Amino acid sequence: MDSALTQPTSFSTLIRTASHEQHTEAETSTFMGDLLGGRLGVDAFARYTEQLWFVYRALEDGAQSLRDDPVAGPFIRPELLRVAEIERDLAHMRGEGWRAGLTALPATAAYAARVEECARTWPGGYVAHHYTRYLGDLSGGQIIRGKAEKTWGFARKGDGVRFYVFEGIANPAEFKRSYRELLDGLDLVVPDELEKQRIVDECKRAFALNTALFRELGAEFPLSA
Ligand code: HEM
Repeated sequence: MDSALTQPTSFSTLIRTASHEQHTEAETSTFMGDLLGGRLGVDAFARYTEQLWFVYRALEDGAQSLRDDPVAGPFIRPELLRVAEIERDLAHMRGEGWRAGLTALPATAAYAARVEECARTWPGGYVAHHYTRYLGDLSGGQIIRGKAEKTWGFARKGDGVRFYVFEGIANPAEFKRSYRELLDGLDLVVPDELEKQRIVDECKRAFALNTALFRELGAEFPLSA
């Protein structure tokens, strides 16, 4: 029999396929559509970047204690870290006092709280959030960067869009390939099928948290008809 038919689906394929529908939903949200369509001002982009600051702080603060964890540890790589980049972007867009007026939308607070909870109590769940953000940033994030540079005149890969620039990753395609290998390697440390399914479900939840954030941003930046 053809071995491709008998081989179980790899975890990287499973998680990608299972979140495909939510990906389309996030990608086609009104806020993203308006942002990528060049219909929103730079203030909306800055507001979005501010919300990412809360999410990545949760992801990257949470990473500290997971470095040696057998499940989450291998995913934690310094070249992915985004908080410093986001802070440079915010200083550029909002000025040096960017932190003073910064507020998290309710959806952002809920998202960051869930990431923190996973980081503290459930490494597998943390991996689901890690995957959803960082692999997305390395993929569709590049499309967002290009549009932002064009729409609001940021220097190519410069201040304002540094969040989307991974200086330490020379070959994103290769990096994504090795990341998928790490996902597939979870089979060894997470042999339990039920636990793998829970991680996939958490990934869907991560997408839903992003979509909820886009909904609130969309309500804050409605297009005047
Ligand atoms: C307008 C916004 C978006 C666009 C244009 C976009 C586009 C893309 C594209 C083209 C890929 C495929 C890249 C490849 O196969 O190498 C991709 C993958 C991915 N995106 Fe998005 N995306 C967007 C929003 C999002 C959002 C909001 C999230 C979640 C926060 C996300 C998470 C992901 C993930 C996790 C992958 C990797 C899938 C995998 O290969 O396992 N994307 N995106």
